Amino acid sequence: MNERPVNGHRCRAHAATFSMQANRRMRLAALMLVFGAFALGAGRRSPEVSEFAGSYPQHASPNGTVHQVTLLAAPSRVSLFDGRSFAVWAYNGQVPGPTLRIRLGDTVRVSFTNNLPQPTTIHWHGVRLPNAMDGVPGVTQPPVSPGATFIYEFTPKDAGTFWFHPHVRSSEQVERGLFGALIVDEAKPPPFSRDELWVVDDWLLNREGTLNEQFNTRHDLAHDGRWGNLVTVNGRRTPRLSVRPGERLRLRLLNVANGRVFAPDFSALDANVIAVDGLYTARPLTPTGFELAPGNRLDIDVIIPASAVGQTFTIFDRFTRQAIPLAEIVVEGEPVATPQFDSPARAHVPAWQRPGAETPLRAEFRLNARSGGPFGIQWTINDAAMDHATHALPEHRQHLPIGEFSRLRFVNDSYRLHPMHIHGLFFKVLARNGNRVDEPHFRDTVLVHPKETVDVGTVPEDPGRWMLHCHILEHAESGMMTIIEVH
Ligand code: C2O
Ligand code: CU
Repeated sequence: MNERPVNGHRCRAHAATFSMQANRRMRLAALMLVFGAFALGAGRRSPEVSEFAGSYPQHASPNGTVHQVTLLAAPSRVSLFDGRSFAVWAYNGQVPGPTLRIRLGDTVRVSFTNNLPQPTTIHWHGVRLPNAMDGVPGVTQPPVSPGATFIYEFTPKDAGTFWFHPHVRSSEQVERGLFGALIVDEAKPPPFSRDELWVVDDWLLNREGTLNEQFNTRHDLAHDGRWGNLVTVNGRRTPRLSVRPGERLRLRLLNVANGRVFAPDFSALDANVIAVDGLYTARPLTPTGFELAPGNRLDIDVIIPASAVGQTFTIFDRFTRQAIPLAEIVVEGEPVATPQFDSPARAHVPAWQRPGAETPLRAEFRLNARSGGPFGIQWTINDAAMDHATHALPEHRQHLPIGEFSRLRFVNDSYRLHPMHIHGLFFKVLARNGNRVDEPHFRDTVLVHPKETVDVGTVPEDPGRWMLHCHILEHAESGMMTIIEVH
């Protein structure tokens, strides 16, 4: 048992009963997998499944270390943007919220108290954890009422860049400042000179510089959600990161915006994508063409040349016609020796493509809008809108068999963007508009463009009711959410 501080909180090691249960459940799942393989016989299984064993890069089991963390959600004033005091809702009085950092195999025990004027929950985006800890009101837990406390305890199965945010009225609560990162380091993290988190966001401010408190407007609903008029990185407008020549940086980009998509341009730098949505890619990839949609993460390996002393590199967002400067990297000071190590981007990522025939579709999700509902416009999946007021379970929820390969299809019948996110599992993009794609990485969120069809493949490992929804939070709030049951 170790003690390790998380953001100033002392960690107390104690008997992790919950983790033991999780461990038992994992063993059971593994057993079921093996049993399933025999019971079903080879004839009914697609060839991809043999590729499945160990397909995710990691499968951590609890190592006994428990990080005790306290989180408090409350209205606060923080210094933001150019240093002015700004009214927000925040975790522990910080925007972005505190970064929780642990090692793979460690358990986090979060004692969460809600001091907001509304119910809330915490969802751990991208983290493979027991379903009961997923933070979905009415599905995995009752919402946490104002004044109440809820304990989240889990051992992430994967190392990587993850995040947490409310799953109640998220279009309002996330926009007001409730989000934070959860970083899980592998046992031996690669020796980067520097590891930086860039939380990318936008804010919709009134003329007086206060937060526009009109949420879920018809305009936002009819478009790609709420797009702000101020873009920030870590709450600052175009922050400057000072580095030494020769440094090798790991930049972790996380998009917490309600609706805005970013296309970060690293072309001025020697930069490679090494992880997408937390998990390492099969090989280093050029950042060009990567879209950082709401919910997405990109980890980037950047080498600052020794010759760059005195230079400033600006990283622009180029998703819209108007380039927006996200951040500046200023190279100054004495050169350092560049850490030499192989790129960590060499994960086993299965191909999941069958020569010849495609695996039959397990489910199709048609994405569209109609008028009606509490906001006047409803976003739908297969013509159904999730009712957040009653938390009623969709009648026709999709079932996915645990441990088996499933091919799923998103069909965007609309002219808007939909970054589709699935809780509790990772998937791979297999085709866009019927053309085969073999992305050399997993994801938990894929941007489906207007009128586009995207096929993904997945092998769910964890039983439970997992949400599938658009991560444009206004679309999700007005109904674009459903449940897949894995069992
Ligand atoms: Cu970050 Cu249900 O999502
Ligand atoms: Cu959407």
